Amino acid sequence: MRNKLMLVGFILLLTILAACGNSTEEGQTDNTNEEETTEEASNSEENASEESGGEVNLYTGRHYETDQELYDQFTEETGIEVNVIQGDDDELIARLDREGKASEADLLMTADAGRLHRAKSMDLLQQVDSETLNENIPENLRDEESQWFGLTKRARVIVYNKETVNPEDIQTYADLTKDEFQDKVLIRSSSNIYNQSLLASMIALDGEEAAKEWAQGIVDNMARAPKGGDRDQAKAVIAGEGDVAVMNTYYLGKMLNSEDEEEVKVAEQLGIIFPNQDTTGTHVNISGIGMTASSKNQENAQQFMEFLTTEAAQEQFAEANYEYPVNPNVEAAELLQSWGEFKAQDLNLSELGENNERAIQIMNEVGWQ
Ligand SMILES: [Fe+2]
Repeated sequence: MRNKLMLVGFILLLTILAACGNSTEEGQTDNTNEEETTEEASNSEENASEESGGEVNLYTGRHYETDQELYDQFTEETGIEVNVIQGDDDELIARLDREGKASEADLLMTADAGRLHRAKSMDLLQQVDSETLNENIPENLRDEESQWFGLTKRARVIVYNKETVNPEDIQTYADLTKDEFQDKVLIRSSSNIYNQSLLASMIALDGEEAAKEWAQGIVDNMARAPKGGDRDQAKAVIAGEGDVAVMNTYYLGKMLNSEDEEEVKVAEQLGIIFPNQDTTGTHVNISGIGMTASSKNQENAQQFMEFLTTEAAQEQFAEANYEYPVNPNVEAAELLQSWGEFKAQDLNLSELGENNERAIQIMNEVGWQ
């Protein structure tokens, strides 16, 4: 009974979303989608493709309003409506699991490779054999069994206060644990997937013992008990609460281009370090996508995935949110290029998922809140 009710609720929600356009995190409503729905309702002849295009249902943990523009473009090109349910990665995975075969979702998009790996291991995804995807996405950024695919890349970097820190002193993740940065390190909580995946990558590359030692060193050097998101860590550095912070590159890009002058001011006072250039490389994670095991619009879903990896879409997808494209034929945006090329960890991102549980255990063991 409860399941049935939830299914009815879900269908209702899908209908509402399709009718109203998807509200973004910032609470802005997308009008383009609304117009398209109206057009479809009035059975417009100019848009004949829309009548036969069908739909695709996307669960996404990405929280960037710019994504919708790309979905609208896909609809324009193919006539396939994209119905979006936005949520937290973990919630969406739990929901897919709960809904089982009855799920209306065709695609799961998350902001972390570890989560896609988890969805796969819960049998929530299915294999997609696509030459286009295999050509457009480097091997280490997609699942060996073609159950998930990276769409954009982000690096987890160190930022520092240019006034107080000599960048030569902070060239590696391990440097964050040095005595001179005692009470100076700002980093968000252990519940955050970005830090879990960072530690998971260290388990894969340096071994468990070294990873634990690092996590302990971070806890020892924290400027304060973790709170807030990546941007809050950067702000705390400039507010003088510490000297260095760990953050994803796109947050720095967003701050530099923010409408909030204070954010721009903070970002301009920060220097950026791509850690571990002489050793294991900087930690890179992806935002990616997989086709759900329950998908009822498989062709549309595959077409959507392929669309997102094309050169034109990649440029827009990545640039709009200051991320790096996965398609090697597409150049990163100018701002990202201005930060210079960097060496990334040489790691199949499945390992982030495989080591996630152990990473969380270690964080608990060392008291990372
Ligand atoms: Fe994020």
